[in-house]
Amino acid sequence: SGPRQLRSFTSPAESNTNTNEGIEPAIPLRSKKWFNDPSDLGLTVPELSPKNRPIIGIAQTGSDLSPCNKYHVELAKRVRDGIIAAGGTPLEFPCHPIQETGKRPTASLDRNLSYLSLVEVLFGYPLDGVVLLTGCDKTTPALLMAAATVNIPAISMNVGPMLNGYSGQKLIGSGGVVWESRAQLAAGQITEAEFLHHVAFAGHCNTIGTASTMNAMAEALGMSLPGSASIPAVYRERGACAYATGLRIVQLVREDIKPSDIMTKAAFENAIACCAAIGGSTNAPIHLNAVAKHIGVDLDCDDWERVGYHLPLLLNVQPAGEWLCEEYHRAGGLPAVVAELMKHNAFPHPDALTVSGHSIGENCRSDLSQDRRVIVPFDKPLKAEAGFLHLKGTLFESGIMKTSVISPAFREQYLSNPNDPMAFEGPVAVFDGPEDYHHRIEHSPDIGPGTILIMRGAGPIGYPGAAEVVNMIPPGELIRKGIELPCIGDGRQSGTSGSPSILNASPEAATGGMLGYLVDGDRVRIDLLKRTADVLLSTAEIEERKKSMGSYKYPKSQTPWQEMYRDSVSELSEGMVIKSAIKYQRLAQTQGI
Ligand code: FES
Ligand code: MG
Repeated sequence: SGPRQLRSFTSPAESNTNTNEGIEPAIPLRSKKWFNDPSDLGLTVPELSPKNRPIIGIAQTGSDLSPCNKYHVELAKRVRDGIIAAGGTPLEFPCHPIQETGKRPTASLDRNLSYLSLVEVLFGYPLDGVVLLTGCDKTTPALLMAAATVNIPAISMNVGPMLNGYSGQKLIGSGGVVWESRAQLAAGQITEAEFLHHVAFAGHCNTIGTASTMNAMAEALGMSLPGSASIPAVYRERGACAYATGLRIVQLVREDIKPSDIMTKAAFENAIACCAAIGGSTNAPIHLNAVAKHIGVDLDCDDWERVGYHLPLLLNVQPAGEWLCEEYHRAGGLPAVVAELMKHNAFPHPDALTVSGHSIGENCRSDLSQDRRVIVPFDKPLKAEAGFLHLKGTLFESGIMKTSVISPAFREQYLSNPNDPMAFEGPVAVFDGPEDYHHRIEHSPDIGPGTILIMRGAGPIGYPGAAEVVNMIPPGELIRKGIELPCIGDGRQSGTSGSPSILNASPEAATGGMLGYLVDGDRVRIDLLKRTADVLLSTAEIEERKKSMGSYKYPKSQTPWQEMYRDSVSELSEGMVIKSAIKYQRLAQTQGI
């Protein structure tokens, strides 16, 4: 099929908001309680004074330090135009940067810091609504978490994925372009300048890694305009979407539609369903559980399995499939995924409200896939059960597994016992953090076929922020024989990874989880049918271990924030949030300003 008619972001309904004076807000604007003297912010009387003129924040995540989101510096101008056209006054301000590829020890350490600072800005300044400019992995959850806590009207808009990458004629995702080009550079096949030319694009990663996943989640929750998440950064349509977002936030303020009206339990269930259908990142449960905690919705990994596990993979985009986000967008983006699920009565709550003012069902129903190679039919899915399994047992209280990425080789090696087809058991080899793993993996003679690799000390406290390291590669000698090894860990896995690891084990070793007490050679049993993960030791043996080994040791903090983070953070299963922040909810309402 040819290129589809791209979605119009200035439909007549939207441009009707283009009248400003005379629309009374549903409730008095909070900004008007602040100002007696508009010169405080360098604004003029006409920009501030009319009692129906909302002040709209633009939370800017783009900067020189955050290249994935940097194109937002341009897009924000179109957001401003929309806000002004609809009768609002825009105030753009910077957010703490969170660049996935640049921050040490890990970008996810900064999610809660960015959240915390945005809460202070949204609560403490005279803003009636906010546009959340998202993109790179952790920027999206950080901003949604803050909007949830303060609960002023908010719309998120991502920067958009970068255009397709190619190596010769081969379509290649953003992470892969870097690896391939680096190899070519090392081999002297390309110059440094050509290397930079290969890897420097505007926009966030163009596979279904954590960035594309989280922005799809924002749209599935109803927090972004329909069809917006997949628009490539540099498409003309992206600028139109920025303008429409500016128009719409002013309306949302006047209608007093808040994040708590949109991010309901039903909305989270819709997001979980979409995550399965697009083959989303295993980081999504962590971040969505965090957003839910801050808006006061009960959500846990059992919900992820209940709502998502049985749903099919419909999106043929890397890493689970072949294409990239340009094709995804041309095939219809997330609305086409929702429409396909709805057509088969597999979308949980079509009636959930979105920032468009309409339900997600109304927004998406007629947007069926324009390219069946990219968004495939429900009854001919790429994988049958694409969601996550939630495992529990004596090894941990919560861990998740993305079974849709189990390879035929892994299935053959571990899940083909006719009497016990969904279970495997083996001795463990234990590593304390990624550095230990890299040092020892090639020099551990006891690691052989059937060994289960354990990574500990990689959770939110052990490796502050939780490292993306659980997808461990077996020793070279085993790889050459085609042998895969199961991996379990208390850390995370990159959203672009395709390995069937058991991740996010909570509690982590650093807070007393059983992984911290394992020794090489202990036997572990995983049963995917019963959803269990057990260490084969008696209760008495476990107690004895804990007594003799003492608490798990991890490296010292390097910065003040690392120490504060470690003192405050919850487990991965709980969203890795600041524990004491949860009790502060709906600040704009409960604190009376
Ligand atoms: Fe920023 Fe992938 S590294 S989006
Ligand atoms: Mg990542």
